Amino acid sequence: MQINIKSLQDITYENLIKLSEYTSYTDHLNHFRTLFHAHKVGTFLEWGCGFSSKIFLDDCDRVISVELMTGGGESEWMNFCKRLFGGHGKWTPIAEVVCSEIQTACVQFSTPHPNLAKVHPQYIRKLNESFDRAVSGEKVDVCFVDSLVYIRGDLVELALQRGIPVVAAHDTACCYQNYPDTSVIRRDHGHYGWFRIQDHPEYERLFIDYGQGTTFWVHRSLPELAQTFRKYIDTGLAAKHHLNLRDLVEGRDYHLKDGKYRLADHVA
Ligand SMILES: C[S@@+](CC[C@H](N)C(=O)[O-])C[C@H]1O[C@@H](n2cnc3c(N)ncnc32)[C@H](O)[C@@H]1O
Repeated sequence: MQINIKSLQDITYENLIKLSEYTSYTDHLNHFRTLFHAHKVGTFLEWGCGFSSKIFLDDCDRVISVELMTGGGESEWMNFCKRLFGGHGKWTPIAEVVCSEIQTACVQFSTPHPNLAKVHPQYIRKLNESFDRAVSGEKVDVCFVDSLVYIRGDLVELALQRGIPVVAAHDTACCYQNYPDTSVIRRDHGHYGWFRIQDHPEYERLFIDYGQGTTFWVHRSLPELAQTFRKYIDTGLAAKHHLNLRDLVEGRDYHLKDGKYRLADHVA
């Protein structure tokens, strides 16, 4: 089944969930539903905008979407998104033209064997400045990293260093499956640069092994939210049944039985 998204009306949660059944594009959306059901989100910062931005706009007070312009197709994509969401009062789109230091890092990370020595020493400082410009002093509740450019690990790291209460990243199950199997590639977990993320004991890291993989870092000041995610993951439904997962996310009751959480109807 194809879903042809041409206008804002075509972008519904149901349509995007269907889309995720044959592409991986929106396989993170049920997880965000869980988050929004459990936790009020004021400002949502996303790196890389797309169809899900509409869902985030529905559920958050404000969405800041940053598109990093590296000279690829981002400008056309941002214009398309602006045509879709441009009139939405809660949306702040930012088209950030990257400097040469970030551009070089993007190129390096997108190669099969990233040569980090070629990344400019000022790159992280420049990326931090881009972060500052995007946020412009505002308190951010959730930061979601799902940009096209291959520097996602560093964007996550900067979000964690800032203490943003909930940080999420998509495609965290990815590795260089199509490239020659070398130890370097295995260790690095691919071009997204996840290996660049440090340990942050002030956060609980929750990996959801579904589709492309999504990881949430929940600040330890939000133990109930972390518990909600743990339950969601423990059901095992996250990796298996869309329909059951949707029931769960929509708030249907579930119980612990034989060491697993099950929907109430299935307990007896
Ligand atoms: C992987 S997409 C995800 C966007 C968003 N987080 C979502 O879930 O809808 C991120 C990037 O891919 C690019 N992109 C997304 N959809 C595209 C499309 N249909 N055509 C061209 N580029 C696209 C854009 O540069 C965008 O920033």
